[in-house]
Amino acid sequence: MEKREIILDCDPGTDDAIALAYAAAHKDELELLAITTVCGNQSVEKVTRNALNLAEFYGLDVPVAKGMDTPFTREPVYAPEVHGETGLGQSVLPAASRQAEQEHAVLFLNRLLTGLPEGKKVTIVATGPLTNIAMLLKLFPQVKKHIREIVFMGGAAMGGNVTPSAEFNIYTDPEAARVVFRSGVPLVMCGLDVTLKCTLKRQQIIKLCQSGNPVANLCGDLAGYSLENSSSKYRGEVSIHDVVPLMYLLHPDIFKVQCTILDVDCSDGPSRGTTLCDFRWWEHEEEEMDAWILMDADGARFQEELITGLYELGERIKNKKEEGM
Ligand code: BDR
Ligand code: CA
Repeated sequence: MEKREIILDCDPGTDDAIALAYAAAHKDELELLAITTVCGNQSVEKVTRNALNLAEFYGLDVPVAKGMDTPFTREPVYAPEVHGETGLGQSVLPAASRQAEQEHAVLFLNRLLTGLPEGKKVTIVATGPLTNIAMLLKLFPQVKKHIREIVFMGGAAMGGNVTPSAEFNIYTDPEAARVVFRSGVPLVMCGLDVTLKCTLKRQQIIKLCQSGNPVANLCGDLAGYSLENSSSKYRGEVSIHDVVPLMYLLHPDIFKVQCTILDVDCSDGPSRGTTLCDFRWWEHEEEEMDAWILMDADGARFQEELITGLYELGERIKNKKEEGM
């Protein structure tokens, strides 16, 4: 498989933290160029600290740049009920020795992308509100030629989690989502239609927590926190939403995709942040249907693939530590 270069824009966040582990587990297939952070599940200060600590814990030697501290035009909406006050439930990681970049994430991304050789393109994976990405595309449209695609977790063709019809990342900053949707950059939307099928079950989480494998333990604790502190506890399983865009890049065969045209409700009414997916092919020219949306997933394969990745990364870290002793 061709190695894909990616940038991860995220707001860790329990499931963002698991997504980062999954990316680290696959560093031979996904070359992570940078992590950028955005206010979302918690303040940008907290999620940046988390990103730095997680990257070091997972053995990722990549720059981390802190991004937008508020949405485009609105006040932040955090999600402590799912991710805890720190953003990482009750997990406490060793403090990273690395600091965040001096530059703001949007400027950092512009510099990184415009510095690429002619014809080179990277994939942006976004697992938080789309504020940084929208800002980047607005301020520096010339970077578009270096973006292969934006694969993001957010939205839904049907049903929401914050409101009956809106998903958290899009609800938080609908204006940013609209900028991204209208940017002309190829898009892949990984919304609740599939992420609600991409879960870990309570028994699997307990096993991870009891395994003695450092990455499985951490990710088990993170998933367990979100499971027990949200309405997921009644389901007995919790969605690991943010792993989906990364797994889609590595195993597209796990998912069913459809093409669509994306828009978003930017009103303040009850449907604020609802993604509008127009599937009416008979109304549009083929090239207008320019976004892909994941519509179905094989949940069992998702679980197997994720759990394997977490154990492998943990073993690698353990071996490295032992070698260093
Ligand atoms: C999304 O919202 C956040 O709380 C999660 O990290 C995920 O990105 C799910 O709606
Ligand atoms: Ca997230």
